[in-house]
Amino acid sequence: MTERDYKTVSRTIAALCEGETDIIAKMATISCELYQALDGFDWVGFYRVVEPGLLKIGPYQGGHGCLVIPFDKGVCGACATSRTTQIVEDVEAFPGHIACSSSTRSEIVLPVFENGNLVAVLDVDSDNPAEFGEHDREALEAILAANF
Ligand code: SME
Repeated sequence: MTERDYKTVSRTIAALCEGETDIIAKMATISCELYQALDGFDWVGFYRVVEPGLLKIGPYQGGHGCLVIPFDKGVCGACATSRTTQIVEDVEAFPGHIACSSSTRSEIVLPVFENGNLVAVLDVDSDNPAEFGEHDREALEAILAANF
């Protein structure tokens, strides 16, 4: 597991997103910056809540992602249902994991709230096993809270 330094990318994201109200523009910017800045981030993207119980893909970086995820499916669905961050050290051990890429080994998925409402989840996949931990959860939750 990499102990990443999020200071620089957090500051960059805050500067780029300052004053921006368009959620898609912010999602595109955050996906791009996280993907470019951080080792082990092999897929980064958002799934938006488009209707009760349904997620649909939003801005992302990396290979193609599946377009639609019901709340009762996958790690993203577990995050949306529980409204809590999911850290998966071994995706093959997660019941119902949706493999958009056969190279994914670990994953972190975080809820995105606006005014207390769940509006999306942020999905980060890594080709490395057990890539994410509490440090990543705290830093990524802080980035999301600061920009949405
Ligand atoms: N792995 C996710 C699906 C999204 S693709 O990985 C981009 C899941 O199990 O919900």
